[in-house]
Amino acid sequence: MDTKQRSAFSSKIGFVLAAASSAVGLGNLWRFPYLAAKYGGGIFLLTYVILAVTFGFALLLAEIAIGRKTRQSSIGAFRKLGQKSNICGILGMIIPMIITPYYCTIGGWVTKYFAVFLTGQNMEAANDGFFSSYISTTAQPILWMAVFLGITAVVVFLGVDKGIEKASVILMPVLLALIVIIAVYVVTRPDAAAGLLYYLKPDVSRLSGKMILGALGQLFYSLSIAMGIMVTYGSYMKKEDNLETSVFQIEFFDSFVAILAGMIIVPSVYIFSGGDESMLNAGPGLMFITLPKVFDAFPGGRIIGLMFFALTLFAALTSSISLLEAVVSNVMDRTGWRRTKTTVVMTVYCMIIGTVCSLGYGAFSSFKIFGMSILDLLDFVSNSILMPVLALLTCIFVGYIIKPQAVIEEVEQNNVTFHLKKFFYVLIRYLCPIGILAILVSSILSSMGAMTI
Ligand code: TRP
Repeated sequence: MDTKQRSAFSSKIGFVLAAASSAVGLGNLWRFPYLAAKYGGGIFLLTYVILAVTFGFALLLAEIAIGRKTRQSSIGAFRKLGQKSNICGILGMIIPMIITPYYCTIGGWVTKYFAVFLTGQNMEAANDGFFSSYISTTAQPILWMAVFLGITAVVVFLGVDKGIEKASVILMPVLLALIVIIAVYVVTRPDAAAGLLYYLKPDVSRLSGKMILGALGQLFYSLSIAMGIMVTYGSYMKKEDNLETSVFQIEFFDSFVAILAGMIIVPSVYIFSGGDESMLNAGPGLMFITLPKVFDAFPGGRIIGLMFFALTLFAALTSSISLLEAVVSNVMDRTGWRRTKTTVVMTVYCMIIGTVCSLGYGAFSSFKIFGMSILDLLDFVSNSILMPVLALLTCIFVGYIIKPQAVIEEVEQNNVTFHLKKFFYVLIRYLCPIGILAILVSSILSSMGAMTI
């Protein structure tokens, strides 16, 4: 993004919606539901909500405040605030480089499903085995990924992402409305009770370090924090806007979409898959397996399904565009390459790694590292290791080097009251760093104990 001309978002809700639409993406619709299903339903949901109102609040607020204070994107901002070591900048560059290629693999799956609904093959997609046989083929998933990546790259290449941002301000609320309608349909099915109970009622016996780490990584991923991106967003925020309120609104919107997506997908496992609970462990494919079954049962399901996949595709594209944009601008900063060259090189890079991820479900499916497919491994390394580490470093940086007061002053600009000032102080200096460290260490120890990750 252009760091010289910082046009501020024109209206208050404009900032919130722009940040929220970068945040809302596959993380909410694809990743949250399958993690919730896998990690015990209600207990995961509860952990996520607790982490969102504490760690999520403190980190999102700190990142946006740093951006608005320095009017710079992350590398420049941390440097301006006196950080000598480069570690945050380096992690902030590596993380989007790991996420973007596999994000495009999943984006390709969404594009395929959009095409399936468009061409009326939705009944076949509702059959058992449709998804697994699709991802195990070689050419098609790579082709659809190339379509998704191609659209992303063209937008980044032409630098027209501002136009996309404007469209998303309208389309995101439409997506939300559609999700509410589908969720109401699912939860009012006569046999929804068992699934809803699983999703909403915490079962403490499922509490584990690994589950908490999963929820923490998901929180960072979903809010696009712990990778420096929200710093850039903050640098575009107006001084008059209320930072604290905006943070609440972004978090609320983002979590609401994720929780509702879970409320559609998790109970559907019980309702439409004949009570086959092993489906809860389906992992990255869960959304693609369950949703066609929901739309198959839904009156006018083809149209609703088509709209749903169109809007999901749009949400995924807005996220992949800002991810690729982050990769390109980081690499440009470090290499001094021109924008055109960087965009081409990074698109080829994403294509190669994305292809490997795609083949991980087909030709390379017997190749597993720590029992994980290649896509799962990249997802795990970025979300469950690197992002918590970067979040921890951010807490130390804000809590002890620039001091929480610097963020507090930024929030209190124009005599705005910072209601949760003390809470923020305690969180950023003590609770977040200690909590993140404890979660990381405990899950590393327990996975070492089990000898699997
Ligand atoms: N939050 C996005 C989602 O839920 C994914 C994401 C992570 C992202 N980091 C990002 C998007 C940075 C844009 C920029 O899908």
